[in-house]
Amino acid sequence: MAGRIVVIGSNMIDLVTYARRMPERGETLEAERFQSGFGGKGANQAVAAALLGSEVAMIGRVGDDDFATGTLANFARHGIDATHVVRVPGVASGVAPILVEPGGENRILIAPGANAHLLPKDLLPARGLVEGAALAIFQLEIRTETVLAGLEMARKAGVATLLNPAPAPDAPLPEGMLGLVDHLVLNQSELAILSGLAPDAEIDVIDSANGLLARGVGRVVVTLGARGARLVGPEGVAVIAPVPVTALDTTGAGDAFIGAFAHFLVSGSPLETALAAASRYAALSVTRPGTQSSYADRASFARFSAGAVA
Ligand code: RIB
Ligand code: NA
Repeated sequence: MAGRIVVIGSNMIDLVTYARRMPERGETLEAERFQSGFGGKGANQAVAAALLGSEVAMIGRVGDDDFATGTLANFARHGIDATHVVRVPGVASGVAPILVEPGGENRILIAPGANAHLLPKDLLPARGLVEGAALAIFQLEIRTETVLAGLEMARKAGVATLLNPAPAPDAPLPEGMLGLVDHLVLNQSELAILSGLAPDAEIDVIDSANGLLARGVGRVVVTLGARGARLVGPEGVAVIAPVPVTALDTTGAGDAFIGAFAHFLVSGSPLETALAAASRYAALSVTRPGTQSSYADRASFARFSAGAVA
């Protein structure tokens, strides 16, 4: 029986607008299309894992509005235990206005709202969920101190940890945080930032990942979009081949990758097998619009993996 996944993280309502180009400052431009949907890096990763069949619990905060009602119903629909996703009175739910250009590239603003109200002490009532999990997953859309407290709680209980340091932090991570991370999954710009460089700095991915291993991370997975992914760990480097697709909307592809990786990991797949499957799952998501709305369920992913049209 595969272990349970616990996600300590964010949820947002994604307000996705598709445009022919980005408006200039002061310009009003008519968009092609709009779609709202469920998002937030934590919730996305939880939903991807649940769609693939994992048992998932979420710890987080929603606001005092209709968005919260929708988000809680969305967790329930996916069979995600959201007992510890609590409403914060008088506060708005997290939202993410997202602009998508032709070709699928996006720009995202996040207004965390209630997500910022999950405090370290709020993890105590949910302790059982963390300690009984096979894998605890974190991102950086909630308070850093809460992430740190959760990582400490998981590590003390011998629970494997995964950190997706996204969005990239604008201040150095707290001392000792990386040492609590078994799997660090990040993209190239996040890797540059964690290495103390500008997001678009030319970096040697393997050297930079090795630098994070030296700071105490168990292993590093760097997602490189259309160039696949790299696994850098004590065993050395593995190349995860890209899965060529025509991108329509890349929003949430990184989260799809992480949710699927987590699912296959707790299901007992070897690391490289889990990463190859995660890469396929993320590739399928970029061919579909939206964030969670682009995530495949088990059956549709199996068809895609078999080479048929999803
Ligand atoms: O990673 C994609 C996610 O980032 C979106 O769902 C949006 O909510 C932001 O959190
Ligand atoms: Na998508």
